Order: sequence, then structure tokens, then C-alpha cells
Amino acid sequence: MITCSAPGKVYLFGEHAVVYGESAICCAVELRTKVSVEKSDDMIIESVLGRTGLDHEIHPYVSHAIEKMSQLADIQGIRIVIESELPVGSGLGSSAAVTVAIIQALNHLYKCGLSLEDIAKTGHEIERMVQGNASPTDTYVSTMGGVVMIPQRKKLDLINCPIVVGNTHKFSSTKELVSNVSKLRSDFPSIIEPILSNIGRMSIVAEELVAKGDYETIGQLMNVNQGLLDAIGVGSSELSTLVYAARNSGAISAKITGAGGGGCMVALARENNAEGIAKAIENAGGEAIITKNTEEGVRLESFHG
Ligand code: MEV
Repeated sequence: MITCSAPGKVYLFGEHAVVYGESAICCAVELRTKVSVEKSDDMIIESVLGRTGLDHEIHPYVSHAIEKMSQLADIQGIRIVIESELPVGSGLGSSAAVTVAIIQALNHLYKCGLSLEDIAKTGHEIERMVQGNASPTDTYVSTMGGVVMIPQRKKLDLINCPIVVGNTHKFSSTKELVSNVSKLRSDFPSIIEPILSNIGRMSIVAEELVAKGDYETIGQLMNVNQGLLDAIGVGSSELSTLVYAARNSGAISAKITGAGGGGCMVALARENNAEGIAKAIENAGGEAIITKNTEEGVRLESFHG
């Protein structure tokens, strides 16, 4: 049995804008999805979502990944067990993490010889099959780890402050939110396009701030990014409640991460106030997770037999 894991991510800047080629800065976090794979007589996929065979409704990413990898290897029966620290459909990149981890596990099991670049590319193709208009951000960051600027695929320095995630527990569909933004953009191009390009410009400005470790200024810009995400209609009262709870309890910054609508927000904390921010998020009705940036992307956890 082979076990691989891949991390989730938070966006410091650029969700939605990145779909239109603008820059984004995304940060892998130490919350991982683990996928174990072994050869078997049947095709079995087990996760919190249920136990199925190839199933494009319940396990779309894994099923597409198996089909895609079948073009490189003779995959007959396999048993796959998925365990995740990442809540599903919450903006933390759970779908990218499971996709990247399964590709790497099958890559090892069938000795396909895929490089990390190949894995990120294949992961992106699978996200596009399931989601439609998906950017390469989530799959690239989950594969490579660290802090990454997209579309430049440039690794930046690690973010050295505590990261607090607040989960609204409200499900959101990335596909639907991306399509709502696309409609708004085509209805009001002269208004929405400048908003998206201003979001993109924040990443360009922030690149140097990340190198300097200037989290206060990064935080200021993240808060501006939050306002622009609200402007393009991907906010919600649940997200705003957690964003303001975090800011009012001393967070450097707080904004939506991922597609929005529901899902998660992210706050940057100072060394001494992550616990206080987490408590404020919980008191406001969210689930808080304190985490940190990780340099490690997809990795082999164990290999038996
Ligand atoms: C979703 O995690 C981020 C979006 O920008 C979509 C994408 O990049 O594919 C909303």
C-alpha cells in the first residue's frame, strides 16, 4: 500500500481574478489530505463521502484521476482510502489536494515516472473536467507547497506568521461562484474588469512585501482585496461576520479565501494573538483552525510492499 498526502491552501490575494489571467498569491497550509492506494480485485473508493466504485457524482476528482492515470498504466482494480484534515467544498483546496495526492500515489504504485510539473498539470486538467473554468492555482500550490505566485509559477518566501482559518460551514459551489462572476463581468465589463485587474495588481505589489516579511502592509492590502471580493458578489453575511470577528480581535488582516459564498475566511495573526482570534471566530459561530504555511507540497508518506 502506498500513502501520499498533499496540502490545502489559502489565498493571500487573487481568487477569482486569477481565472482571468490576473496574478494571485497562494500559500500552502499544514492541513493535508492523505490518500492510500493498493491493488485489489475491485475498484473501491472510500472517504467521508461514502464507499463507491468509480463514481463521478460522489467522487468526481478521484474517478477522473483514475481514468486519466489509466492512460499511462494498466489499472485494473484498486482500493483507495481518503482521509482529510481539509473540510470539503470550503475554499481550502480540498479537491486539489485529493486530486494531487491520488495522482502521486498512482504514479508511485504504477511507476509512471511523472514529475511534479506533470502532476500539477494533470491535476489542473482534472479540476477543469470537474469544475469547468478552473485556474491552475490550487493544484500547483498543492503539488509544490510553499507560497506561490500564479500564473508566474514563482515561489516566494514562506509566510512566517500564524494563519487562522474560519469555516462558516456553509457549503459553496466553486463552479457556481466562478460562473456568477463571469456573468457579472460580461454584463458590466467596464466596471468588473478594472476590479479584477486591481485584485491582480495587489499580488504584484505584495511580492516585494512577502520578501521583506512586511505582514502589516500585506494585511492592509488583503483587507482591500476583501472589499473587492464583496464587490464582485462572492461575499456572504456568514463570511463577513467571521472576517469582522477576526479583525476586531486584533488580526492583521481577514478576508475570504477561495471561491467565497460560504466556505472559509483566512486571517493573518501576530505571534501572540492566534488563540484570541480563533476564539472570536468560534464565538461568532465559525469553526476556527490555527495553522501555518508549509514548504512541503505533495509527499510520499509510506510505502508497504
Ligand atoms: C477557488 O479556490 C479559487 C477560484 O479563483 C477558482 C480558481 O482559481 O479556479 C475562485
